[in-house]
Amino acid sequence: MCGIFGIVNDGTSQAAQTVLDGLKKLEYRGYDSWGIAIIPKSGGRIRIEKHVGKIGSAKTTLPDSTIAIGHTRWATHGGVTDINAHPHLDCSGQIAVIHNGIVENYQDLKEELKREKHTFHSETDTEVIAHAIEEELKTGRSINHAVFSVFNTLVGSNAIGVLDLHAGSIVICRNGSPLAIGIGSNSYYLGSDVTAFLKFTRRVYFLADGEAAVLTVNGVKLYDISSQAEKKLVTHTVDWKVEDVQKGGYPHFLLKEIIEQTATIKKTARLNETELKQIAKKIADGGRVVLCGCGTAFYCALAAKYYFSLAGIEAQAYGAYEFLPFAKFADKKTLFIAISQSGETADTLIAAKAAKKNGAHLIAVVNARASTLERLSDTIIAVGAGPEIAVVSTKAFTAQLATLYLLSRAVGGKYKEAQKAMTNLGAVLEKWLTPKNRTAILNLAKKLIDYEDMYLIGKHLNFPAAMEFALKIKETSYIHAEAFASGELKHGVITLIQKGTPCFALFANDETRQEVLSSATELKARGATIIGISPFAAPEFNYHIQTPELGDLTIFGNIIVGQLLGYYLGIGRGTDPDKPRNLAKSVTVK
Ligand code: F6R
Repeated sequence: MCGIFGIVNDGTSQAAQTVLDGLKKLEYRGYDSWGIAIIPKSGGRIRIEKHVGKIGSAKTTLPDSTIAIGHTRWATHGGVTDINAHPHLDCSGQIAVIHNGIVENYQDLKEELKREKHTFHSETDTEVIAHAIEEELKTGRSINHAVFSVFNTLVGSNAIGVLDLHAGSIVICRNGSPLAIGIGSNSYYLGSDVTAFLKFTRRVYFLADGEAAVLTVNGVKLYDISSQAEKKLVTHTVDWKVEDVQKGGYPHFLLKEIIEQTATIKKTARLNETELKQIAKKIADGGRVVLCGCGTAFYCALAAKYYFSLAGIEAQAYGAYEFLPFAKFADKKTLFIAISQSGETADTLIAAKAAKKNGAHLIAVVNARASTLERLSDTIIAVGAGPEIAVVSTKAFTAQLATLYLLSRAVGGKYKEAQKAMTNLGAVLEKWLTPKNRTAILNLAKKLIDYEDMYLIGKHLNFPAAMEFALKIKETSYIHAEAFASGELKHGVITLIQKGTPCFALFANDETRQEVLSSATELKARGATIIGISPFAAPEFNYHIQTPELGDLTIFGNIIVGQLLGYYLGIGRGTDPDKPRNLAKSVTVK
């Protein structure tokens, strides 16, 4: 959570503006407030501008500069106020700090610094870093070494950027929170991810935990924080294109990413064959499959569990935040599949580390590259959906589910068959996502816009599909949407149904069809309005969105209806579909 960005040697002398533009690309990481610090070209003190709220079309009034750092915040310590927004200064105003993470021991550090007469202005944990560096500088150390020493005392997962007035440099350090460096022609960048500076350079280096870098007009130097020794910086070129991080004519990233899925599913089916076959062999040889993730990634795990079962393999699925009591059962036979778009989700990392500690083989099914999860893992399965900018996950989810479907089939030697099915899925979805079908979903959204509660039912694969569908509605439109296994209805929750309550019933054309139809009839008898999401029509439906008939893969179309419906409901209710309230894309805190 939180996005950090900085530039040294801005050729335009508009470093504040460059940082502002970069922060707009990182806003998905947090959007409570934002701030920028610069060293003015004309000399004088560090200048700072901070504001509560989204960056949107904000402008900066900061003067000309060639060096700047900036931050977009998802509040953890201290309310959403201008004062709590980053960057934070030390007492002397010599250094400004931006930070992504949590300093778990900040109270102790703060008390010590207060005893040394440091004055604090904010309620944040970040401000202690600025004062602690100021204190360390009093010992005569260089700024680099002062920053490294202070960083070594911080407990928790953290990434920091420190702008120093005297040295005209930015020192950055990483432990647990992501940080990337971009090497441009004569300009140097830092960012929580590469999307912030992709416009300027694709030559990058992803810092590992325990590494620091110093950015000056002369270039970038890499260090090991513990030994403070310099390391060789070996960059590589990322294959993401600038268009990948632009809306490409769509009004929102969310809509763009929903539509892109027809291509990303086909793409993912061409990736990772070697890795998937290796893991499939381990499963065939008796490996125990444990799937784990948070939010959408957890629903992906739940759906994948059904795919494994269909392939004759018993798999377990856990929300990562509830895995620890069961971590003791992980052993050398365990194939722990951690599913994560970002690879930075704190709970998923904790669960993965616990399983690995007990001997499990750790497999990362990830979308973003060079993440902490990827570094931890024994096998990396990168699903290749490209940058997912909207906070609400769509194309990463379908790419991950498609990949896990391929894995489940690969165990029985049906990899090629499954690959064909995936390619066909992409093609069928492409034909189905016509303007006419999208308009049908838009028209349904118009009918449902004023409801505050909706329920969904599904059975077997369509149960996790209904959960994911409900999450899309909740996240994007803030309407309460709750999914139940259709078998659960009569055991209590049917009491919630009143005259007109919208109830979605998700179907595949399989052996579950009749049972879910019966549940829909029971709901209808209690006054519910039934919205069928299915490849077939039925008299029970008051409204029907027809999805492609795709056997076990029908849930892909059903879920896409939820993604689009959530999007249209959100637009109709005036939300920002790319940045829903209270959320951040990368949940790097427990
Ligand atoms: C839902 C959503 C979240 C994430 C969850 C895990 O649209 O985006 O529920 O799925 O926070 O994030 P990752 O996949 O990055 O581990």
